[in-house]
Amino acid sequence: MFYPVCRPKRLRKNDKFRRLVRENRVSPDNLIAPFFVLPGTNIRKPISAMPGNFQLSVDNLLREVKQVRDLGIPAIMLFGIPRKKDNLGTEAYAEYGIVQQAVREIKKKVPDILVVTDVCLCEYTSHGHCGIVTKAGKGKGCFNIDNDATLELLANTAISHVQAGADMVGPSAMMDGQVQAIRQGLDEAGYLETPIMAYSAKYASGFYGPFRQAAGSTPQFGDRRSYQMDPANSREAIKEVELDIAEGADIVMVKPALAYLDIIAKVKDKFNVPVAAYNVSGEFSMVKAADKAGWIDGERVALEILTAIKRAGADIIITYHAKEIASSLK
Ligand code: PBG
Repeated sequence: MFYPVCRPKRLRKNDKFRRLVRENRVSPDNLIAPFFVLPGTNIRKPISAMPGNFQLSVDNLLREVKQVRDLGIPAIMLFGIPRKKDNLGTEAYAEYGIVQQAVREIKKKVPDILVVTDVCLCEYTSHGHCGIVTKAGKGKGCFNIDNDATLELLANTAISHVQAGADMVGPSAMMDGQVQAIRQGLDEAGYLETPIMAYSAKYASGFYGPFRQAAGSTPQFGDRRSYQMDPANSREAIKEVELDIAEGADIVMVKPALAYLDIIAKVKDKFNVPVAAYNVSGEFSMVKAADKAGWIDGERVALEILTAIKRAGADIIITYHAKEIASSLK
């Protein structure tokens, strides 16, 4: 006699069953909302490639940060658009740089939100690269990034953010040794308690396109392939993560997220530290564009993507969908 042993469908038949047996869920608790801040007042300049995102002056940023907090999202991530750029990215580590000012104001007015800062030079250098550029031969395409000379600038940037009140720093320049340099810098400055969320496996990706419009950080020559990872590589990501943990990273990040779920899963499986995934600008903008065209239900797809990133193993997701998803989950 045929005896039915299947279970799955019985547990899918209504939403209560589905909720009861759901393995992964997206919660505002695990989200970080990124923001772009620039000098001035009363500025709220839409970023056309990232609908619903703006370049904000500090006053308007504070308003957004309060909304994020009220939605139950515990943390924001800050990117700065400086008044002026130069070869050494001086504004990145200036005491009164835009990020430093924004952090001070947020900590004064919305102290109960965690402020994470992106530590990189690319938004602050005139050439748009993440490190110090040295010439290598003739022509604009011939250049080197001086990895070791960049480390001190990155450490100074991190220290200045933490001095302003940042709760955590996120080094994203992909310079070798950056986590150690920043850990040492922070410790020497007395900030032993400030964690580092390292952009450990950061790929040279076409998915960053809209971000570069948002932050004005497109390289003026060349690209980032000499320091960011080759999308074809997986074992190398494990090596990058291993090194960052050894250097003192408290949280490791995989970036981008959607096309790199296998990397997230591997990192999660192999290491015992929290894993963050950056659901980057291009991933966000594709959903928005297809939603606008009426091809997909953007909110449904966004939740599906974030759920998949969690299912792959991410503990934390940095996403431009944070606000809308947190409101829809309420
Ligand atoms: C800075 C940085 C970038 C992103 C985060 N930090 C740009 C880049 O590396 O080119 C991209 C984030 C996004 O696309 O949302 N180095």
